[in-house]
Amino acid sequence: MIILPQIQGVVARSCHPFGCQAAISEQISKSLSQQSASDALPKRVLILGASSGFGLASRIALAFGPAKAATIGVSFERGMSEKGIGSAGWYNNIFFHEAAEKAGLISTNILGDAFSAETREQVAKAIEQDLGGQVDLVVYSLATGIRPNPETGEFWRSAIRPVGETVEGYSVNFEKNSLDKVSLPPATEQEIDETVKVMGGEDWLSWIQFLSERNLLSTGCETVAYSYIGPEHTHAIYHKGTLGLAKTHLHNTRDDINVLLENIEGNANIAVCKALVTKASVFIPGLTPYLLALYRVMKEKGLHEGCIEQMNRLFYSKWQNHTERDEENLIRIDDWELRDDVQQEVNALLAEMTPDSFAEIGDYKGVLGEFLQLNGFEFPSVDYTQEVDIEALKTLRP
Ligand code: NAI
Ligand code: NA
Repeated sequence: MIILPQIQGVVARSCHPFGCQAAISEQISKSLSQQSASDALPKRVLILGASSGFGLASRIALAFGPAKAATIGVSFERGMSEKGIGSAGWYNNIFFHEAAEKAGLISTNILGDAFSAETREQVAKAIEQDLGGQVDLVVYSLATGIRPNPETGEFWRSAIRPVGETVEGYSVNFEKNSLDKVSLPPATEQEIDETVKVMGGEDWLSWIQFLSERNLLSTGCETVAYSYIGPEHTHAIYHKGTLGLAKTHLHNTRDDINVLLENIEGNANIAVCKALVTKASVFIPGLTPYLLALYRVMKEKGLHEGCIEQMNRLFYSKWQNHTERDEENLIRIDDWELRDDVQQEVNALLAEMTPDSFAEIGDYKGVLGEFLQLNGFEFPSVDYTQEVDIEALKTLRP
């Protein structure tokens, strides 16, 4: 079978397994060349949300960079079925594991709903069996639109909306190569509450409580969750909207987790990342014009980073250096994005950007290219005209 990209709006309905493998190798080589001044690196790491985006990059950075960590990765992905080839994250898990094994690194994939009690039990068992009973770091990198309410069996659903005002903006459509007008009405109270349930800190806290009660966290254990703040220009749709309120909840939860970890001298952290193309971020209505402008400016200035560059910088240059945190004790790897010179140029581009000019004014080619690469397409090293052996792929397990 020849596998071609199938894009619906901002969602990829197909992926190329060998392109996913190429993406993993590229990220690995960027972590292999890292150096660290510190020896105090986490050796046993649990990653919740390990199959794509920042979670996958965290896993690669920690396993293949100087930490050489053993990892357990939890994710929610689908394999091949009559419906299709499966998700990119499924193949990312497979090829990460294959590369880790080859390098003599312990790696375990757990496929399941990170919100469920069953997945918690599976993780506990894997920490006992594969990591010798404790972890030194828990990375919390879930991005999802739904979370089951264990009491009712129904779902909380996030709604990415402004709060208190209607916002007009534009969202990209990768299927039609267009920038489409969107009008975002203000969130209802219920939409705000549910977004905080899904993307706030409650589940992060509950994971740490669970692991702590089972004595699965080592002395001095760290945990980190990822956040976004962004510049003034995006505040109406993000920072001051429902997602931003969920992130504020996440930041407050860090303080609760710190109290919980006091007896083991543990530490909870928030790393504020830069805006990047991921499966989750292209879904945020109104954000794309900013991404298009940001990509162009940061590339022109030689400051562009993808997930792996961000995570290498997080763990190998920012992590140990507590003097680099801001007044709210947040780790800022959005520092380059928020530089004045970057933001001034971004604003100038945004002022000119229209549905007719977005592809020339912004880095549409680059943003689309990264989106396709997330799904295993557009890798120069892969020959996309080659037949893919579906039967052979079916035998691969994460
Ligand atoms: P992503 O969509 O690439 O990754 C999400 C991960 O969560 C995947 O591994 C997926 O399998 C997993 N997942 C989702 N639902 C799950 C479930 N029920 N059970 C188990 N696993 C599940 O997303 P991305 O962008 O890497 O987001 C990770 C975090 O980084 C989020 O908190 C996001 O807000 C934050 N962030 C993202 C930025 C961006 O521009 N992409 C910027 C700053 C922060
Ligand atoms: Na992730």
